[in-house]
Amino acid sequence: NVPVITIDGPTASGKGTVAHRVAQHLGFHFLDSGALYRLTALTALRHQTPLADEHALAKLAEKLPCKFLGHEIWLGNEEVSNAIRAEEVGNFASKIAALPAVRHALAGLQHGFRMPPGLVADGRDMGTVIFPHATLKVFLTASVEARASRRYKQLIDKGFSASMEDLLKDLKERDARDSNRAVAPLKPAEGAYLLDTSDMTVEQAVEQVLRWYAA
Ligand code: CDP
Repeated sequence: NVPVITIDGPTASGKGTVAHRVAQHLGFHFLDSGALYRLTALTALRHQTPLADEHALAKLAEKLPCKFLGHEIWLGNEEVSNAIRAEEVGNFASKIAALPAVRHALAGLQHGFRMPPGLVADGRDMGTVIFPHATLKVFLTASVEARASRRYKQLIDKGFSASMEDLLKDLKERDARDSNRAVAPLKPAEGAYLLDTSDMTVEQAVEQVLRWYAA
């Protein structure tokens, strides 16, 4: 009976940071499920595997040679923590995430993160599909403007260039794709607590999640 906290929400809502801090506070494991989609996307872009080849993409996902070492994400013997954050990779990730065979290939990998003493899982379908019996489910949102400026800051901090206008456009497209896809569309899980963080600091959001968990 390993406890699981799921934190789902739209792109750039800040859920990754919040989920990571909650995990640290509780001494739990952390699953950044979006990173798995990004790792698959990065590999596919490098192999020039087209979006149309669902079978080949699922094979890549299934055999992903990835390792998570604290904040570092490795693909084989290359550290790709920054490389997978590029917008190009995120966009392709959201496209391949609509393919059932890819989602299926990554499901087993994700279940494997559930280990004592507990897990905080961050993504789009953690509470709806991957861990439907989670101890606590949170759906974290923020306004489009708040999310675009968070993503802008994140990209600049990582040394990428970015334009606010392009980011807003990307964000809206990604929202539409994530919410309208046939498999595992982005939506609050049954029983999820909604948390709008537009006017909240990371600390406030973390405290709220911890209060819900303790209750
Ligand atoms: O950083 P951002 O929130 O944009 O994305 P991410 O969490 O790194 O995930 C990248 C993409 O993978 C998203 O746009 C989703 O389409 C997809 N994804 C998913 O479908 N299911 C998940 N559990 C996690 C991510």
